[in-house]
Amino acid sequence: MYQLSHISKIFDGRIVALDALNLKVRRGEKVALIGPSGAGKTTLFRMLNLTIPPTSGTLVFDGQDVSHLHGRRLREVRRRIGTVYQQHNLVPRLPVVHNVLSGKLGSWSIWQAMCSLIRPTELNLACEALAQVGISDKLYERTESLSGGQQQRVAIARMLAQNPEVILADEPVSSVDPALAAGIVKLLLDLSTTYLKTLLMNLHSVDLALAHFPRVIGLKDGKVSFDLPAAEVTDEHLTALYSGGRTETIEEEALNRAEHRSAWSCQPHLTS
Ligand SMILES: Nc1ncnc2c1ncn2[C@@H]1O[C@H](COP(=O)(O)OP(=O)(O)OP(=O)(O)O)[C@@H](O)[C@H]1O
Ligand SMILES: [Mg+2]
Repeated sequence: MYQLSHISKIFDGRIVALDALNLKVRRGEKVALIGPSGAGKTTLFRMLNLTIPPTSGTLVFDGQDVSHLHGRRLREVRRRIGTVYQQHNLVPRLPVVHNVLSGKLGSWSIWQAMCSLIRPTELNLACEALAQVGISDKLYERTESLSGGQQQRVAIARMLAQNPEVILADEPVSSVDPALAAGIVKLLLDLSTTYLKTLLMNLHSVDLALAHFPRVIGLKDGKVSFDLPAAEVTDEHLTALYSGGRTETIEEEALNRAEHRSAWSCQPHLTS
């Protein structure tokens, strides 16, 4: 599905967010990305959904070099890739149905989009997408009246309405409590299995990544630190991943290490 060869992204001529990265992801694969803050995870996803082009290197999507696409060809490829964000980017005052159907905006004409705002078209599609995430009863509710977890489900339903081949989920569970977080991660994994979609997920929780994903990639300083089956990720890999990350001050670095250690050292299968 993706082949990245020597991909670099340099912001403002000096900030190296991705550093000669090589990566292959097969169609239908489920991959978790973990790594310290500033490792380049979001930058990588923004490149994978063709929001930003690489500074150098080659990005191949489904056999096609998409490193520097423009115009109609860029829009066509973007339509095949759905993204779920930590901040769901929903319009809070609109009913749920409109937010779900906004997933179709990439393939609708402006006229269709305007008409749908007055009277939702493709209502069945919205109902189906909401049913897939277990909240079909919320179709006409105002989006802002839903809980954080329900709003994240609306965002996933919007992505499903787009019907992409690839799902990129960037910290999709950072704003919900741990029990809901596991539920949303499992939901995305199930959807990926049922509808044969490739799934890549950025996660701050090492626990969730190791418990649910067959393949886990550790990203650090814009490079792949490890790329392993979850069962082969050791304490040493995690220590190397989270030590000496990109931080402004020495105090911040110490705090980061402590936070990440407490996040994963409580797992029974990881403690030595
Ligand atoms: N638009 C931008 N302009 C300048 N620098 C940027 C931009 N986007 C990202 N960066 C820088 O690139 C580096 C990687 O950032 P990125 O957001 O990809 O990290 P991340 O791994 O997603 O971090 P987090 O876990 O905190 O979300 C950081 O140093 C960041 O400051
Ligand atoms: Mg990020």
